Amino acid sequence: MSVRIEKALKGEMIDAETTVHGWVRTRRDTGSFSFVEVNDGSCLGNLQVIADNSLSNYDEEIKKLTAGCAVSVSGTLRESPAKGQKVELHAAKLEVIGWADPEEYPLQKKRHSFEFLREISHLRPRTNALGAVARVRSRLSWSVHEFFRERGFFQVHTPIITTSDCEGAGEMFTIAAESTGAKNRDSDGQQRDFFGKKAGLTVSGQLQAEVYALSLGNVYTFGPTFRAENSHTSRHLSEFWMIEPEMAFCDLQGNMRLAEDMLKYLLQDILGSCGEDMQLFDRFIEKGLLGKLQSVVDTDFGHLTYSEAIEALQKSKKSFEFPVSWGVDLQAEHERYLTEQVYGKPLIVTDYPEEIKPFYMRVNDDGKTVAAMDILVPGIGEIIGGSQREERYDTLRSRMLDAGVDIDEHGWYLDLRKYGSVPHSGFGLGFERLVQYATGMANIREVIPFPRTPGFAPC
Ligand code: 4AD
Ligand code: MG
Repeated sequence: MSVRIEKALKGEMIDAETTVHGWVRTRRDTGSFSFVEVNDGSCLGNLQVIADNSLSNYDEEIKKLTAGCAVSVSGTLRESPAKGQKVELHAAKLEVIGWADPEEYPLQKKRHSFEFLREISHLRPRTNALGAVARVRSRLSWSVHEFFRERGFFQVHTPIITTSDCEGAGEMFTIAAESTGAKNRDSDGQQRDFFGKKAGLTVSGQLQAEVYALSLGNVYTFGPTFRAENSHTSRHLSEFWMIEPEMAFCDLQGNMRLAEDMLKYLLQDILGSCGEDMQLFDRFIEKGLLGKLQSVVDTDFGHLTYSEAIEALQKSKKSFEFPVSWGVDLQAEHERYLTEQVYGKPLIVTDYPEEIKPFYMRVNDDGKTVAAMDILVPGIGEIIGGSQREERYDTLRSRMLDAGVDIDEHGWYLDLRKYGSVPHSGFGLGFERLVQYATGMANIREVIPFPRTPGFAPC
C-alpha cells in the first residue's frame, strides 16, 4: 500500500509495510547504508529512508542519488531513534523513477533568495517555503467555500471575458481574436471585434454577482481578475484572484460584519489546520506571525470614517510622500500608518468621498460621500474593498452618466433598479493579499503559483 509522507510521519503506522513516492532532498552515506531524505509535497517534513548497502542497486543507483531525483521506496516504517522525527522507512526496494542532473538542477541545499526562485517558478514549489505557501493557499481557498456554504451562499461563476469595466478605472486588458480567417475581418481587411464590441478580461465579477444576488439572495464569486495597471509594488499583480460576496437586502453594516467574520474564520482555520507550515512562517518569514494572527481573530476590528481618517493623518506629525487633505484617495502609506501606528489592528474605514469611488457605490444622505468600506490590515494596507450598492434608479443613472459609463451598454445593470430593486451590498477580498497576510510573505509574487506583473509572465 502506498501512502503520502504526511500520513507516514504521524507515527501511527509503525511496522507497516508501505511504499512512498517523492523527490530526494539530500543523501548522506555511512559505512553500510545511506540516509535519503524524501519529500512528496504532502507536508513540510521529509521522510528519512534508510537504504542498506545490501540493496541490489546500492552502488549503481542509490549512491548516485542527488537532490531532485524522483524515487519510489518500499519498505517498513520503524520508530526512529534519531531526534526530531518519529519515523523512518527501512527500504526493501528503492527504485529511481527520474534522475536530476546535479550539475544542472538549480535547487541546491543552500537557501535561495525569493527573487531567484521567481525565475524558476516551475521548480520553486519544491522548496520548503513555497511548498508551504501552496498548501496554505489551497487550504484557504477550500475554507472560503466552506465559510459561504455554512452560511447558505450560492457560488456564481461570473464571466472572465466581459464588456464592462466595473471599477471604471480603465485598467482592462482588451482581447482580440488572433484569427486570419475572413469571418473575423471587415471588408476592408480590418480585424473585427470578436464579440461585436470591445471586450476585455474582467477586473471584478461584482456587476454580474449583483445580478445573481438580486435573484438568489446571497451569492459569491471567486475567480481570477485582471488589472492592466503599471504598478510595481509588493502588493500588486496583473492577474489575481478575488472573492466577492454579494448580498440582497443587506446594508453596509451587514456587509462589514460579514467581511470581519470571514477574515477571522479563514485565519482561525489555518491556525488550526496548517500548524507545521504556519510555524515555518513564524520562524523564518515573520517572527511573531502566529500571535499576530491569533490576536486578529480575538480582537474587534477598529471602525472609523474616511473623514476621521483624514483628521488622524493630519494630526500626526508624520510627513507623507502624498499630502493629505479631504478628498484625496488614501495611499498605501496612509493606510499603513493608520492600521499599524494609530490602531495596531485591522481597521474598517467607511464613507469615502463620492468622487474617488466607482459609480456603483450608494450615495450617502450628505450627498458628498458614499457607503463604501475598505478593510486595512497592518503590513499590507487595503485587503478588502466593498460598499452598499446604489439601488435607486435615478441616482445610479446620473452617477453612471457622470462617470462616462455607456448607459445603452449597461441597460441590464439599470434594469436591476427598475424591477424589484432592493438595498444590497458586497465586497472584494484580494485572495493573494489574504495569503500574504496569513503567511507573512513580504512580496505578493511569492503567494500566487505563477505571478504576472508588468513585464513578467514566464510560465
Ligand atoms: O478595491 P477593489 O478594486 O474592489 C473591487 O474590485 C470591487 N468591485 C469589489 C466588490 O465590491 N465586489 O479590489 C478589491 C480587492 C482589494 O481590496 C485588494 O485586496 C485586491 O482586491 N486587489 C489586488 N490584489 C492584487 N493585485 C492587484 N493589482 C489588486 N487590486 C486589487
Ligand atoms: Mg479598493
